[in-house]
This record gives sequence, C-alpha cells and structure tokens, in this order.
Amino acid sequence: MNTAELQERVRALKKEMHAVILAHYYTLPEIQQVADIVGDSLALARAAETIDAEVIVFAGVYFMGETAKILNPARTVLMPDRSAGCPLADSCPEEEFARFRREHPGAVAITYINSTAATKALSDITCTSSNAEHIVRQIPAETPVIFGPDRNLGGYIARKLKRDIILWQGFCYVHDAYSPDMMRTALGEHPGAELIAHPECRREVLELASFVGSTQALLDYTVRSASDTFIVATEPGILYEMQRRSPSKTFIAAPRDTSNPRSVCTQMKQNTLEKLYRCMLDRSPEITVPDSLREAALKPIRRMLDMSA
Ligand code: 13P
Ligand code: SF4
Repeated sequence: MNTAELQERVRALKKEMHAVILAHYYTLPEIQQVADIVGDSLALARAAETIDAEVIVFAGVYFMGETAKILNPARTVLMPDRSAGCPLADSCPEEEFARFRREHPGAVAITYINSTAATKALSDITCTSSNAEHIVRQIPAETPVIFGPDRNLGGYIARKLKRDIILWQGFCYVHDAYSPDMMRTALGEHPGAELIAHPECRREVLELASFVGSTQALLDYTVRSASDTFIVATEPGILYEMQRRSPSKTFIAAPRDTSNPRSVCTQMKQNTLEKLYRCMLDRSPEITVPDSLREAALKPIRRMLDMSA
C-alpha cells in the first residue's frame, strides 16, 4: 500500500472506531497529516484530558501515551510502537530519583513530563517546556526546588528566574547534540537568519539564540517574527508544521555536531504510518497503567494542569 492508501485506511478506521489520533510535532509528516491534533507535550496532555472519543491513538513516545492513559483510565489508549521510549525519561529511574529527593528534604520536586509514571508518582508537580517557567514562578522563593530530569531546561529556568534549582543531570540526546561552534558556522553561512532554540539545548547554544522556547513557542514565534529565514535548533520534525504555517519563509534544521550527529529523535520516528494502521486494526499495543501507580502519577499531572490553567 502506498502512503495515500494507508492514510485513507487510517481515516476510515478512525471513524469506525470513534478514535482520535494525537501526534507530537516530532513525528513524521505523513503521521501529522492524519492526526486530529498535532501539538507539543502540553497541548497533547491537555487534549488527552478533554478528549471525547472511545479510543485515543497516540503517535509519540511512551511517556506521552502513558500520560494520556493516566488522564483517561476509561478510554482505550493505543500506540503504534510501544517500544518508542524517551531516553531522557529513562535516565531518571524511580529508585534513584527517590534517593535524590531524600538528599534534599523540604524541596518541592518538579518533574518534566518526559519522565516515567513511577518517577512522576514521586514528584509534587509535573511540567512541560511550555509551562515550566510559569510553574516554578509559583513556588515561593524560599522553598528549595528540585528539577528533573532535564538539566538544560532546569538550568535555563534557574537562570531566567535567578533562583537556585537543584538539577537532576539528565539531558535529551537530540537537543544536547547541538554545539555552539556549529551554530556560529550556520549563522555565518546564513546572514540575516535567526537562530531559535528549544530550552533542552545546552546553555552555550541558548546564549546564541535570538529566541528560546518550547516547540509550540518556537512555532508561534516563526509565524509572528518579521524574519524570513530561521535556523531551528530543535527536533527537525517541527519544520513540517513551521513550513505549513509560513510557506514563504525558509526553515533550516540546525546543523548537527559531527562528533554527536544524533539530532533526530529516532524514537519519535519509530511511529510509521504502517504501524499506526496496524495498531488501529489490531487494537494493540494498548497502554495500561496499574491503578495505584495511575492514582499516584495523576496528582502531579493534575497540579500542573491546574497551575497552568
Ligand atoms: P515539548 O513538546 O514540550 O516542546 O518538548 C520537546 C520534547 O522533547 C518532547 O519530547
Ligand atoms: Fe525524549 Fe528528546 Fe526524543 Fe523528546 S526529543 S522524546 S526528550 S529523546
């Protein structure tokens, strides 16, 4: 079957199953084209909370499908590839995070949504890159804050708010792979282009950027900015939507560091159209979360949604 035929079948199955497809901006264009909602982590978590459908099909990485299930225990949550994990989330195992918390008694633990349900369950509040700053701002200045697992996002918020934050030392291999030297070279090659970057990038890269923001914030910025060329330092899947929204502008995927060339999230790309179709046809793999874990992980997610309303 070719792409158009597969997409047609997916659309037909969607109606038959009373399903909605949620897809992260980093998935392949052919997946984004059949999705009902394409968004960043926060938009997708919000959508998962309010969705009116029997079945949620989540094209993203495992923690996203798991979060959708935590918010929707009564609905069936399917994922095209259950093995599409997030190495950043997996870098913060619950036992080690529990020890980290014990080392900092009295601290509020804010955990990036890119974490396992078990680690969320040990946290006070979750956040995404869209609302992290807004949430940390609501914690009284005298209260110590633990932030995990992404040290780059946590460090960025700490510098922006001029407050000490105790950081878990995790990072996203995609965003951490950008180097300041490569960015300087790209800026030299494209005079007049704006460098825009996701806060999961390293500090030295963020310092060269004219705008820093979550995937959604970067997208919105490219629409409103007067510039016509952008060097984009985040997972290049977002370029599809940037180009769709601003057809006359030029988007350049930020170059990769040749010593660490992994600036594509291979886990997001595990979501192929064939797997999407198969998972709907087979109603499998289905995401399940044990009740006790679900209840514990729901509390910090609910706090995030309440605090970012
Ligand atoms: P946002 O979708 O919150 O921008 O996060 C980026 C990311 O790496 C998702 O896994
Ligand atoms: Fe995880 Fe990074 Fe991939 Fe996002 S881009 S899913 S943080 S590995």
